[in-house]
Amino acid sequence: MKSPINHDYPLSKSDRFLALIRKVFHKYPEFRHHSFQYVARFSPWIPCIGAKAVSHLPLKKEIAFADQSETIFLSSPIILAAGANKGAKRISDYANVGFGGISVGTATRHFRIGNTHRPRLGFIEKDRAIHNSMGLNNDGVEQIAKRVKMQLSKAHKKGLSVGISIAETPGLTEENEKLKDVLETFAMAYAVADYIEVNISCPNTGEDRLDLDTAFAEKLFKSINEFRSTQKTRKAVYAKLSPDLSTPHLQVMVEMLLQNGVNGLVLGNTYPTAKLNSLALMSPYEELEVLREDGDKGGLSGRPLYENMCRSVSFVKENYPTLSVMASGGIDHGYKIFDLLKLGVDAVQVYSVVAFRWMAPHAMNRELLQQLRLHNIDSVMEFNHH
Ligand SMILES: Cc1cc2nc3c(=O)[nH]c(=O)nc-3n(C[C@H](O)[C@H](O)[C@H](O)COP(=O)(O)O)c2cc1C
Repeated sequence: MKSPINHDYPLSKSDRFLALIRKVFHKYPEFRHHSFQYVARFSPWIPCIGAKAVSHLPLKKEIAFADQSETIFLSSPIILAAGANKGAKRISDYANVGFGGISVGTATRHFRIGNTHRPRLGFIEKDRAIHNSMGLNNDGVEQIAKRVKMQLSKAHKKGLSVGISIAETPGLTEENEKLKDVLETFAMAYAVADYIEVNISCPNTGEDRLDLDTAFAEKLFKSINEFRSTQKTRKAVYAKLSPDLSTPHLQVMVEMLLQNGVNGLVLGNTYPTAKLNSLALMSPYEELEVLREDGDKGGLSGRPLYENMCRSVSFVKENYPTLSVMASGGIDHGYKIFDLLKLGVDAVQVYSVVAFRWMAPHAMNRELLQQLRLHNIDSVMEFNHH
């Protein structure tokens, strides 16, 4: 493939205002980070920022599946990635800032406090990147599924599809116990969400990732498939993989996932800190203090992930065209979304950009619309790959 263009955007006055907020609250990065929920909630009352759900017909995206899994309806191909709304609270607020879907969680079987060291989050300004080692803090799948169930129809009315991201409870060693744990979590999420994302690639719990344990991953997805065949409604299942997998490893995983009825991939998660040398960062590794204090346990997100992510996406779409792909990693411009749709992705998932770009999804929706018009493409649905 041609090298992807890491399209950049000029910083607007509002983006500079966001930079100021990051500076003022630099000692409280988690507070700064979580404040996005208030932007989503109160934006309709802030004048002049155009905060409303997406209603441009050309941006609508429907993801249909050959195995008759329920279609995913998105009012824009931009989904808020897992980790931003871990607790599934006030889901439909996120439509105000321009999202077309949201993956809530990651949920585990029970409540988790996450990693106890601080800071667990840091901004790397020069690279417009974020480092985190949150450690899967969440309220547990029962609470999260209950909240999704209560809010789903309101979210649909505002044009949002809602996925639940689930993961294993870190630290379980006995195989059957581990399997039971994930399957219970999966079943509770499956009962209520529009789609399920199985996060097998979290780098920061201190435990081995499941995408590195191919034998266990195979047992897990086989059991998930058996469970799905007993259910009245079939829903789409995505596996979220790590961006650091080698091509042969990625190939083995993809073939196993296809054999077990998985509909798609989220490509990918944060990039493990311990392997950051393989990414082109402007900030030297030695200077990334926030990143190092947790013993290199965390992961990086944001702009530096983009090129690497595009290579994995192209590889998968060229070799496994029927697999649905949601691209994630450094997407911060509507032109990038256009390029990815051309590569065959069904949607994109973004997170870090909301910390660096004011009302980022609205800005990216506008840029995507511009590209569609420029290329005489009537709607996102014209990039239909299934
Ligand atoms: C603070 C933070 C927390 C995250 N938590 C999760 C999580 O719980 N589950 C998950 O699958 N991904 C999580 N991610 C990864 C994002 O969902 C996303 O895949 C990644 O950040 C790459 O996209 P981006 O470059 O647009 O941020 C988290 C990312 C950040 C920055």
